[in-house]
Amino acid sequence: MIKVGVLISGQGSNLQALIAACESGRIPAKVEVVVSDKPDAYGLERAKKHKIATAIFEPKNYTDKNTYELEIVKVLKEHQVDLVCLAGYMRIVGPVLLEHFPGKLMNIHPALLPAFPGLHGQKQALEHGVKIAGATVHFVDDGCDTGPIIAQVAIPVFENDTEETLSARILEQEHKIYPLAVKLFAEGRLKIEGRRVKVK
Ligand code: GRF
Repeated sequence: MIKVGVLISGQGSNLQALIAACESGRIPAKVEVVVSDKPDAYGLERAKKHKIATAIFEPKNYTDKNTYELEIVKVLKEHQVDLVCLAGYMRIVGPVLLEHFPGKLMNIHPALLPAFPGLHGQKQALEHGVKIAGATVHFVDDGCDTGPIIAQVAIPVFENDTEETLSARILEQEHKIYPLAVKLFAEGRLKIEGRRVKVK
């Protein structure tokens, strides 16, 4: 059973999907702690409902990113987490988190990377006129949504899709592939080889 720390900034529906998968026994993992950079993130309420420890660190209270991230690392280490999942965490991870959790940081992005990284992946996809959209779970490196890809899911874009309808259908799929990626990690089945993630 591995211990997971989840970083959030908002509603935390992916966090909820991870908690549900852990609690039902579908994945051999437990969400030990949820860290938010926003005090009003709804995901914090979700964590509390499941009696999961929470912590809030607001970057504006720290002199720089390294000092801010060191506080997060401290909490994650206190809870002895084996894996850190970014779930709607709206910040680029800096060197401190990367150094302390090498190969142990995952993110979910609402687009088929390497297309449409950064903010508003779904809107970017719609504006580009793609026919297929999707979501990606990847390990985090020092770029923005550039790390080795673990899992992806593709869905069709409909003629009448808006950013809202497309985002909702992508989110449904996110809730499936994030627990899957964590399951593979927890079972020791993921191996990073350069840019590729081999699944044993
Ligand atoms: C998701 O679309 C995720 O891919 C993106 O931000 C959104 C967060 O949703 N990074 P939630 O907070 O997990 O509900």
